[in-house]
Amino acid sequence: MYCVREIAENLYWVGGNDHRLALFENIHPIPRGVSYNSYLLLDEKTVLFDTVDWSICRQFLENIKGVLGDRPLDYMVINHMEPDHAACIEEIVLRYPNVNIICTPKALLFMQQFGFHIDGKVIEVKEGDTMSFGKHEVVFVEAPMVHWPEAMVTYDTTNGVLFSADAFGSFGALDGKMFNDEMNFDRDWIDDARRYYTNIVGKYGPHVQSLLKKAGGLDIKMICPLHGPVWRSDLGYFIDKYDKWSRYEPEEKGVMIVYGTMYGNTEAAASDLATRLVKKGMTNVVMYDVSKTHVSYLISETFKYSHVILACVTYNLNIYPPMLGYIMDMKALNLQKRTVALIENGSWAPQSGKLMRELLEDMKDMTILENEITLTSSMKENDEDSMEDLADSIIESMK
Ligand code: FEO
Repeated sequence: MYCVREIAENLYWVGGNDHRLALFENIHPIPRGVSYNSYLLLDEKTVLFDTVDWSICRQFLENIKGVLGDRPLDYMVINHMEPDHAACIEEIVLRYPNVNIICTPKALLFMQQFGFHIDGKVIEVKEGDTMSFGKHEVVFVEAPMVHWPEAMVTYDTTNGVLFSADAFGSFGALDGKMFNDEMNFDRDWIDDARRYYTNIVGKYGPHVQSLLKKAGGLDIKMICPLHGPVWRSDLGYFIDKYDKWSRYEPEEKGVMIVYGTMYGNTEAAASDLATRLVKKGMTNVVMYDVSKTHVSYLISETFKYSHVILACVTYNLNIYPPMLGYIMDMKALNLQKRTVALIENGSWAPQSGKLMRELLEDMKDMTILENEITLTSSMKENDEDSMEDLADSIIESMK
């Protein structure tokens, strides 16, 4: 049984959803599932835009058959070669042997690396090349490192549809909904969209900026990403989020406190600081236990807030391992432009603060507040003045 949506005249969503997968890329939890989007255009020629993950291939093939009927498949545009979209390329070639594949030269190289047998059916395209399928003419726009080097996006000049590859995607299965205006995106989806962007594409902010500049020259009416809803209204809302995230600008003035605690003493100090901040009027405060929160959520929240406080126990004379993992992920994803404060704890040789500072100083445009707190085993009355001073410094740095 096929299950598709017509999303514009003669353009169909033929993708599917996966609720079973626990970890996207075998790293990131996706409790709300994920969609793999693929689109099929029926013009004088028939054109498939990207394929899907192997896990939903059967549904995908039924969808294509249901929309094509007796027509042949003439073209397959491959915007992105990551296997969550490219896994079914060979299967399509086997079932539609006359299909021509349109992709960048690097995508062709990746097809060979992944071992696809595609028998010379490839039309290589580069930036600015165009192709007509009948009524619809498309232009190909290179989008290297959004999110892999071979990536491109395809713009349909006839109806203003942008096939945006990984850009403007989101975690979350669609569950019958298709368009951004069929859901309360800002309430129910933005956290997953941010977590998707920051963890998957976050490292490549400058490349996303360059794609946004190119996209600014197009009259885009609809954005068709490879994951998550299709955008047909309020495009500016999501483009603005992408602009902020890719410039590493925080979305909100607020304080994210991440603590690494073994027996609750460092957590108690983190709570003390949170309470002081709220009493001073900064109510936009969130706290996360670094051991209990998957790092993909921590990264997403770190992109959201202007201030990050790291409170960390010393472990084997080093940074507590889950905190070290989080900081290394921040570095890997190129996070920058945050104000950071540090609280270290240790029973005989506290030094997590010094070590965290060294790592943070390596990152771009980070402001690390001078008054760092050192606790020995637990926070006591004689630590209160320095905690109050730290709260004051954080508030002051927000002005
Ligand atoms: Fe959803 Fe980079 O692939």
